[in-house]
Amino acid sequence: MNYQIDSSELSADLAAIAAYSSSPPPGVTRIVYSEADQHARAYLRERCREAGLELREDGLGNLFARWIGSEPELPAVASGSHIDAIPNSGRYDGTVGVVGALEAIRALRRAGVQPRRSIELLLFTSEEPTRFGVGCLGSRALSGALTAEQIQSLTDGEGYSLDEARNGAGFSAPLAQVQLPAGHYAAFVELHIEQGPSLETEGLPIGVVRAIAAPAAIRLVLRGQGGHAGAVLMPGRRDALLAGAEIALAVEHAALASGSPDTVATTGYFRIEPGAVNAIPSRAVLEIDIRDVAPEPRDLTLEAVHKAIDEICGRRFIEYELTLLNSDPPATCDPGVIEAIVAACHSTGLAYQMMVSRAYHDSLFMARICPTAMIFVPCKHGVSHRPDEYASPEDIVRGTAVLAETLARLAG
Ligand code: GLV
Ligand code: MN
Ligand code: MN
Repeated sequence: MNYQIDSSELSADLAAIAAYSSSPPPGVTRIVYSEADQHARAYLRERCREAGLELREDGLGNLFARWIGSEPELPAVASGSHIDAIPNSGRYDGTVGVVGALEAIRALRRAGVQPRRSIELLLFTSEEPTRFGVGCLGSRALSGALTAEQIQSLTDGEGYSLDEARNGAGFSAPLAQVQLPAGHYAAFVELHIEQGPSLETEGLPIGVVRAIAAPAAIRLVLRGQGGHAGAVLMPGRRDALLAGAEIALAVEHAALASGSPDTVATTGYFRIEPGAVNAIPSRAVLEIDIRDVAPEPRDLTLEAVHKAIDEICGRRFIEYELTLLNSDPPATCDPGVIEAIVAACHSTGLAYQMMVSRAYHDSLFMARICPTAMIFVPCKHGVSHRPDEYASPEDIVRGTAVLAETLARLAG
């Protein structure tokens, strides 16, 4: 059946949420628990209430909005994504999956569907690692991959603890209650923009994700010796930036030499102190992201980067402290949920391809606790994590139609 998806509602929700940003348009910046994040959450709570959903929030701020099924004791079917956005990015990453799930539920209700299983919209807290260094914070915690103690020990770049930050945003329930019990959900489906070029290149409206790549990230603190840029002669220097620069090049080299065309490695964060033109950098902080579809080449690259850091720092008399922020296994999507998505593509008459997600998603962790798969829609030139990220209203409607049909099939 083809459920009627309201394109203007979807576009209005995307535009309203994009306006809650701490950077000027077209860029979007929405860091977890910031004022912009809190406003966007308030907007979504209101929209969920208007849609007749029952709301619950846990101690991290994960939001659960439930449409009660005719057999409410059965495990629910869930769908959702995140609304936090990295600095100066776009309006579609994550948010499409949240407003898409909400519109899918509204469309099913308008069509008079009465599902057996409850259908639940999930808004995950902090899929992006921007503030606390760990990606998929909310879904990691739901899946039990992070304990309450590990969550409690997190701090942001300004020294605020996670507890201070979440309390400030109004979330104070015990973190020990965040993890979901086994069997809580019957299935989870996430709608997301592809963040890569293949659907656009192939001219296809839908990607059905069969696996999610393995991400790893490290934080590196380098300590050298500061000093006067004019007075300290070159031979005696211990410049933290120069060590970091060599390391960033070694990261690129390690990825290129991994032997796998799928290995990617990025030094996406590099900050120096004191940061003055006439002072030798005494301290540098780098964050390095390494991924592959398979864990082995990812781990070999990680090892090569570690060796290079050791060699470069030894040669330059730099002390270093390396923290492994995460190194997660890839996820395999569930054949039953994939089958439901494929059947939904057939009944909506939309062509699709099976694919791998190179970006990570909350689905990486939901796959640990329930049958999970993802629906991708094209984005222009494959661009994401940039202000010019764009997905057309037509493509978002198509993805939402497939999601609605999938949820109806899974909920019975
Ligand atoms: C998600 O934003 C990722 O970095 O893959
Ligand atoms: Mn992202
Ligand atoms: Mn995302």
